[in-house]
Amino acid sequence: MDKKIEKIKGEIKCFHIKTYNDLETFRIKFISKKKGIITSLFKELKKISIYKKKIYGKIINELKKEVQNKINIFQSQNNNDKILKFDPTVPGKSIEIGGLHPLSIIKNRIIDIFMKIGFTYVYGPEIEDDWHNFTALNIPIYHPSRDMQDTFFLCKNPDILLRTHTSSVQIRYMKKHKPPFRVLSIGKVYRNETISSRSNFMFHQTEGFYIDKKVSFYDLKQTIDYLITSIFGKVKIRFRPSYFPFTEPSAEVDIYCNNGWIEIMGCGMIDPQVLKNVNINSETYSGFAFGLGIERLALIIYQIKDIRIYFNNDIRFLKQFKNEF
Ligand code: PHE
Repeated sequence: MDKKIEKIKGEIKCFHIKTYNDLETFRIKFISKKKGIITSLFKELKKISIYKKKIYGKIINELKKEVQNKINIFQSQNNNDKILKFDPTVPGKSIEIGGLHPLSIIKNRIIDIFMKIGFTYVYGPEIEDDWHNFTALNIPIYHPSRDMQDTFFLCKNPDILLRTHTSSVQIRYMKKHKPPFRVLSIGKVYRNETISSRSNFMFHQTEGFYIDKKVSFYDLKQTIDYLITSIFGKVKIRFRPSYFPFTEPSAEVDIYCNNGWIEIMGCGMIDPQVLKNVNINSETYSGFAFGLGIERLALIIYQIKDIRIYFNNDIRFLKQFKNEF
């Protein structure tokens, strides 16, 4: 035992630790739980008499302390080295700053435009029930207009679905608030459509509606005019008669752009039946509503050809919007 201890003492002293790798080899050689020489000495203690155990136990503990000291010394010196090597004059690594997604840019622009004329911004759920998405909007079951929007149903329960338009937000808001109000909402809507350069199974819609005494089609036209000129500047605008079950009369709005008319939104005067469904007196109050797709708008503004590019996460595409807010 004595000889062994002397030998180990010598080995500890002579071991040169220059790198962290050496340090690890040193630690494993002497004090690791499985392979350490000193650890195995502790195990040998079990075999000798109690008297000797006391003496050798002390000596082996001293050895262990020496090993630990050597480790501590190396670590403290090398930490100091690191601190000394730190040079505050070296320029920092630049971090690339991201930008907003083009759809977020357009969304923020629309919100800004409507905040200026006193609209309130609200959210609505993407998972809806039949009543808010269809029935309350004057679209009864078996009404052919349900086919206009191919619906994703959830949980095998035909009452629960992914909203097919943001018009459901009208119902949610009108049920809870008393007119007058001016409300804007933007969010995702879902339709079971074949994916192509022009359509996707999910897109973003903006819904706006205004209810007060004596709101007329003239107010609707002025508001749409204000929206379009705020975005495109002076362009020709055309209102085309159309049909939505929840507005009467209804219209589609086109703008004249690149030598042709492009349809950009639907709108109309809220059908009195819809007001009745949410307990608003349709004799006293009237209102208008409109809905427009954000992807479609961004296609026109940025001259993008394919709607799928918004969600490809292609950094070359997204980088182009970095400096826009
Ligand atoms: N909800 C309609 C659609 O998704 C758009 C719309 C909204 C039309 C409000 C009129 C009024 O096609």
